[in-house]
Amino acid sequence: MTLLFKVDPVRGHAWKALFAKHAPDIEVRLWPEVGEPSDIRYLATWQPPAGIAERFENLQVLFATSAGVDQFDTIALPPSVHIVRMLDPGIVQGIVEHATMTVLALHRDLPLYLEQQRLGLWQEQPNVPTRQRRVGVMGLGNLGQAVLRQLQGFGFALRGWSRTVKQLEGVQCHAGEAGLADFLAGCDILVCLLPLTPQTAGILDARLFAALPRGASLINLGRGAHLVEADLVKALDSGQLRRAIVDVLANEPPGREHPLMAHPRVWVTPHIGAVTHPESAFPVLLANLRRHQRGEPMVGAVHRERGY
Ligand code: NDP
Ligand code: OXD
Repeated sequence: MTLLFKVDPVRGHAWKALFAKHAPDIEVRLWPEVGEPSDIRYLATWQPPAGIAERFENLQVLFATSAGVDQFDTIALPPSVHIVRMLDPGIVQGIVEHATMTVLALHRDLPLYLEQQRLGLWQEQPNVPTRQRRVGVMGLGNLGQAVLRQLQGFGFALRGWSRTVKQLEGVQCHAGEAGLADFLAGCDILVCLLPLTPQTAGILDARLFAALPRGASLINLGRGAHLVEADLVKALDSGQLRRAIVDVLANEPPGREHPLMAHPRVWVTPHIGAVTHPESAFPVLLANLRRHQRGEPMVGAVHRERGY
């Protein structure tokens, strides 16, 4: 059984060492040293090579090393190839840390205090208790739910939005297109943790911003293509939105002159919300390989028609 990794060399070597130690029956190859392509049964990657189906005729499973799978051209893959996303507990931890850090920064007006410091101002801003701060999370999956659990400890007024109806203790849940306006009307801070699909592309647009309370802030931790960047700039400049923190952009890396990089009320981080660590992800990947070998369903299998 041969598993090919197409990842950066440092992590590639870490993966290879973990397999050599804990699962020596699985042969690991590191891109671009593919060897005989027909040997490859499993491919693990973030950015796939072109023409996977033609190149690897015996491929059985495409493992994303990321939680998102929007980078894969699923239509070009034969239906027999399973697609599995990464459910690394390290990714959950990273996203929970980033969301907590940014929600608290917005809640406590950190960007404004930093601006005041640069101006030499010592000026107290109104302090809003967490129970009066409404935080909404779009996407109530693995990551959205973990973020809400963490934010619950601070006492925020929490709400969430998903495709299908959910019941989460302490969270006002909304679902579907029909529930979106009510959800948005109660979000002072909106966190996007949706997968990128044809239904969610461009969802963070002028219409959505207009449905938020005036002065709300946005944190985009999903994908850059969720956001209509020009609409965000307009919403910030008109005062409809107060601030935005974006970890992902439609084109990464952006040029120096990118309007969000230069905007005074936007913080940009370079897609570091979460990083896949081989050490924490290895047990998850190995367990799935073993499930596949036993003919059992894999955890994190992607529904092709849903796209996530
Ligand atoms: P999951 O698949 O576990 O959850 C996705 C959630 O989004 C589900 O609750 C789903 O609803 C909801 N959803 C999907 N489509 C729609 C829709 N059309 N309308 C409303 N809700 C919808 O994904 P994860 O939580 O694991 O990851 C979410 C995304 O986070 C990833 O796809 C990736 O894009 C991003 N990400 C970003 C990272 C970063 O570093 N910035 C790191 C890791 C992930 P339902 O439950 O009803 O199906
Ligand atoms: C992911 C990411 O999807 O890093 O895991 O964005």
